[in-house]
Amino acid sequence: MEKKLLLFIFFHLLNNSSANVTDSVCKATQDYKLCNESLTSNPYSADEDAKGLARVMLYMALHKTTHIIVYVKQMMIENKFSDCRSVCKECLQVCDKNYNFILHYFVLNAIKYFEVDMYHDATFAIGLSGLNVSTCADACVKCNTFNLTNRSNEYAYFVLVVGDVIDFLY
Ligand SMILES: *[C@@H]1O[C@H](CO)[C@@H](O)[C@H](O)[C@H]1NC(C)=O
Ligand SMILES: *[C@@H]1O[C@H](CO)[C@@H](O)[C@H](O)[C@H]1NC(C)=O
Ligand SMILES: *[C@@H]1O[C@H](CO)[C@@H](O)[C@H](O)[C@H]1NC(C)=O
Ligand SMILES: *[C@@H]1O[C@H](CO)[C@@H](O)[C@H](O)[C@H]1NC(C)=O
Ligand SMILES: *[C@@H]1O[C@H](CO)[C@@H](O)[C@H](O)[C@H]1NC(C)=O
Repeated sequence: MEKKLLLFIFFHLLNNSSANVTDSVCKATQDYKLCNESLTSNPYSADEDAKGLARVMLYMALHKTTHIIVYVKQMMIENKFSDCRSVCKECLQVCDKNYNFILHYFVLNAIKYFEVDMYHDATFAIGLSGLNVSTCADACVKCNTFNLTNRSNEYAYFVLVVGDVIDFLY
């Protein structure tokens, strides 16, 4: 009976301390709310240490780029260009290329650096991925049918917070 109680207390403390890792990590970022919501909504964050949380954030960035690529491909297939046929076609082509480049070059490199504990380089690479989205956003300013500026901005902002979470490790 006593043993069970001790075990219960032990796991309770363990649980609380892991919840607090998220709290401490996110307090060190520029957007506590976005960081906390991203991490607490992800089942893989449970019981992770600071490094595990940074990995979760990096994979969320990867997930976001994949989502955008899928969205762009879907738009290409649907081919619903009404008023701005050539402009929107070009916008989608530029964005497809841009996000494939971001995914393969910047994000996967950031993950590679991260896994060998090169945190500075990981932060740098993920930061560059956010700056690079303007190639897509700029190509779509005149496309009324699809406007990827918001998605690009959202991604660029998210990776700043990812960088902060990695920065927590050094
Ligand atoms: C973190 O720890 C403090 C003090 O030990 C506690 O009051 C707080 O509820 C904990 N936070 C979470 C999210 O569990
Ligand atoms: C962190 O996010 C969770 C889930 O969205 C929420 O329940 C909790 O209140 C948030 N913590 C703070 C301090 O805002
Ligand atoms: C994104 O990266 C590519 C390849 O390095 C480069 O050609 C392009 O100019 C970059 N775009 C921005 C906005 O930095
Ligand atoms: C695309 O969205 C951005 C941000 O909401 C806005 O500044 C821009 O004017 C929009 N472009 C078009 C053509 O709707
Ligand atoms: C882009 O974001 C702005 C501001 O958050 C919003 O008003 C607008 O409706 C969004 N545009 C699209 C196409 O989602």
